[in-house]
Amino acid sequence: MAFCAENKQFVPSRRVTVFLTLMMPVPIYSCRWRDGRVAEGGGLLNRCTVKSRTGGSNPPLSATFLIIGPRIPKIFPGISQHCCSRPPVTFVRMMSATLNPITSLYVHVPFCAQKCSYCAFFSEASSGELINRYVDALVRELTIAAPDLVAKTVFFGGGTPSLLNLRQWETVLEAIHRLDLLDGPEWTVECNPATVSLDKARLLRSAGVNRISMGIQSLDDDLLDRLGRVHSRDMVFRSFDVLRRAGFDNINLDLMFAIPGQSLDVWRTTLREALAFGSEHLSTYEVIYEEDTALYAQLKAGHFAVNDDLACAMYEELLGRAAEAGFHQYEVANFARVHSRPPSGAECHPVPALACSHNLNYWRGGFFYGLGPSATSYVRGVRTRNSSNTQVYCQQLERGERAIESSEQLAPLQRAGETAAFGLRMVAGWEFERFLNVTGFDLRQEWAGDMRRLVAQGWGEWHTDRFHLTHKGLRFADAAAELFLR
Ligand SMILES: C[S@@+](CC[C@H](N)C(=O)[O-])C[C@H]1O[C@@H](n2cnc3c(N)ncnc32)[C@H](O)[C@@H]1O
Ligand code: SF4
Repeated sequence: MAFCAENKQFVPSRRVTVFLTLMMPVPIYSCRWRDGRVAEGGGLLNRCTVKSRTGGSNPPLSATFLIIGPRIPKIFPGISQHCCSRPPVTFVRMMSATLNPITSLYVHVPFCAQKCSYCAFFSEASSGELINRYVDALVRELTIAAPDLVAKTVFFGGGTPSLLNLRQWETVLEAIHRLDLLDGPEWTVECNPATVSLDKARLLRSAGVNRISMGIQSLDDDLLDRLGRVHSRDMVFRSFDVLRRAGFDNINLDLMFAIPGQSLDVWRTTLREALAFGSEHLSTYEVIYEEDTALYAQLKAGHFAVNDDLACAMYEELLGRAAEAGFHQYEVANFARVHSRPPSGAECHPVPALACSHNLNYWRGGFFYGLGPSATSYVRGVRTRNSSNTQVYCQQLERGERAIESSEQLAPLQRAGETAAFGLRMVAGWEFERFLNVTGFDLRQEWAGDMRRLVAQGWGEWHTDRFHLTHKGLRFADAAAELFLR
């Protein structure tokens, strides 16, 4: 079978008549056969359906494919090569945007060398056997999701993705390439400084990973101990050097502040040293006391008290030093290096080129697949969550099913409220037009009262084209964002 760009049709090698029709409003493809039969599986028309029909013992006599969707060659790999030398133009303009494949992929790796005292992310210290089983299950899940994915950004987070050994990584990387999952500019892997080696870093780099996010948290050995980190300050320096030697030129460093026992001076020193690495990106989080963590238990037991004034002073210090070092803050906790200041008169809130594109998609309310135990997906308005039990996750995928444990479809206004709340974490806030395009709601109507209240408090600024939080508002972004939830 071949695809012909001129008339946007597949021309079959056997004469079979199939029309792909759109079953609105759910994005399902189906083939309607001339004799009235309909071939469909739900979701995207997949290659199995087509193969079985065209290659079966009793195929229909002729076929025409009306191409629906932007990436038919991905759904039918290899087809485009048989036909036209020009890249296939496969859009049918009548298609709604919701039918485009999902362009953002998150993969959760639920293992850590040891559990940090503050961390509530789903992860466990585990043996090699379970990790092998997880890798096989993940490949199965990637295979299931692949027909609906054309990933502009891939993000392996955790947990500690860098805990996977070379062989396990090879299996995952081979699957990503075989399934042709990546079609875009950014592929990030999170690393812990204790699990970075030159071999692993080179393997990732050569496979196309081009961004590393390394959790360093602090450069003070006492605080690293207090946080239950598995690495020392020296390991941070060594690992950063290893990553650069492996060819990574886009590295993010995660830092934490307001750590119990951390003085302003210690924070200043850590900041100065961290900025001196010359990384391209910085994520800095104030400690959150998550229930069910050791640090939370210590707080409740009165081992230390929270000092909000000190936390504010540390945040101010961060903003000042990061700006001096050439970083541009584009989100509450995120800073990207810029090589030159925007010319005067340019947009006052440009998103820097080195901002994390994957996270920008979350903050802008975009869809994404989240694979791996406990991962959340948000696909065409439906939010699902995978099982937070790695054994159950593996068992279900071994049976050939995705391990989804819950699913909800938010009401449009509720969904828009969440989108507003996320986007306000960005320094640029929300352009009214953009928000309207993404959600179908107008911030100036649904949330006018809330925005007025934030302006009166000095937490928000309302311009003709956009609303955004002020410097002070960003410090309390979570509280401000709550006003928008419906
Ligand atoms: C899921 S971790 C992944 C990084 C990697 N596992 C590591 O820690 O080296 C992402 C980042 O979230 C931040 N983080 C996790 N729990 C936090 C908490 N309770 N409060 C503030 N930041 C937190 C840390 O900076 C951490 O590096
Ligand atoms: S902070 Fe990172 S290394 Fe520590 S437990 Fe959480 S995911 Fe694991």
